[in-house]
Amino acid sequence: MNIFSSSLISETQNHSGTVSWQSPSNIALIKYWGKFGVQLPKNSSLSFALSEAYTYTSIKYSSKISEKAEHEFFFEGKENPAFSKKVLHFLKELDVIFPFLKQLDIKIESKNSFPHSAGIASSASSMSALALCLCSIEQELIGSLQDEIDFFTKASYVARLGSGSASRSVYGGYSVWGEFTELVETSNDYAVPFTYEVHPLFMLLRDSILIVSDTEKAVSSRAGHALMNGHPYADARIAQSKQNMSCLIAALKQGDTDLFIEVVENEAMSLHALMMSSKPWYSLLHPNTLMILDKIRAFREKNGLFICFTLDAGPNVHLLYTEEDESQVMQFIDNDLIEYCVDRNIIHDKVGFGPKRME
Ligand code: DP6
Repeated sequence: MNIFSSSLISETQNHSGTVSWQSPSNIALIKYWGKFGVQLPKNSSLSFALSEAYTYTSIKYSSKISEKAEHEFFFEGKENPAFSKKVLHFLKELDVIFPFLKQLDIKIESKNSFPHSAGIASSASSMSALALCLCSIEQELIGSLQDEIDFFTKASYVARLGSGSASRSVYGGYSVWGEFTELVETSNDYAVPFTYEVHPLFMLLRDSILIVSDTEKAVSSRAGHALMNGHPYADARIAQSKQNMSCLIAALKQGDTDLFIEVVENEAMSLHALMMSSKPWYSLLHPNTLMILDKIRAFREKNGLFICFTLDAGPNVHLLYTEEDESQVMQFIDNDLIEYCVDRNIIHDKVGFGPKRME
């Protein structure tokens, strides 16, 4: 049976129901940057799920009343033309995967746990929450996807079509998207949970997101990925990501914090270096981002703590450290970093358990 397609439903019966999921954002340690074909990654990526930054999505469905099914989308209780266009267009593209959608009137309601202005990319949490809801509807109406692995594999596959990084958000803890020879069962089509050994230290990782800017970024990730086509460093980037992935797998297993820091910061800086060396070049870094990065390095050198940073495609800094150093790191943030954050805004997050189906 192919779990990636589905079938129509009987029109003699009336179908109706509501499904809801809460799904987290994630932060990549090995970055997905560049794609080919239909949303397939040029390199494999590894991330962990966040705990506090998530999207809650609910879909109310019923057998369509008119000839043409009515699909509506509301964000935080209101119509949002920009989001609505994106989501409804995405639903249309899922015709083969979920053919029954054109037989249903659908009302989607979505909200984020974090303010839209926080500068946190919401596509991972929103697309994964939507994909999980659609798979739950398939489960209810068609009776398929009863197997848990099938369910999350399909949710990840569908989420990936909406946004690549969303594929990794359907799992808690660490997950991997993209074929990587050292990790069996990895795929370009969907993410899988990282089932290899992770030292307990890294399961208790904290991530304080230092909000340096809350304005919309000048160049979208979609456009940034496209600039990797023909990029002079494209092949070198793929080779680098493989080497970094191997090192990170070893660091996670052995609890090697020095290696973790080296790899994770190298990935963050390389991502932004790729943007700066694209044609046309661009940079999403803010002067305050660089001030913070310098402070982190100096603090680490002075205190010998396990503390480092990663960046996504934006100016905000993800400060990574462990639970045991929390009080010292809080002092460091208050004394040295908070002044570089817009409105002193920081979101304290940590490794999370993944999505939850809600009543
Ligand atoms: C830098 O997943 O946002 O955060 O597939 O075009 O929606 P689309 O891009 P997106 O790219 C994320 C890039 C990244 C790295 C990562 O999350 O792996």
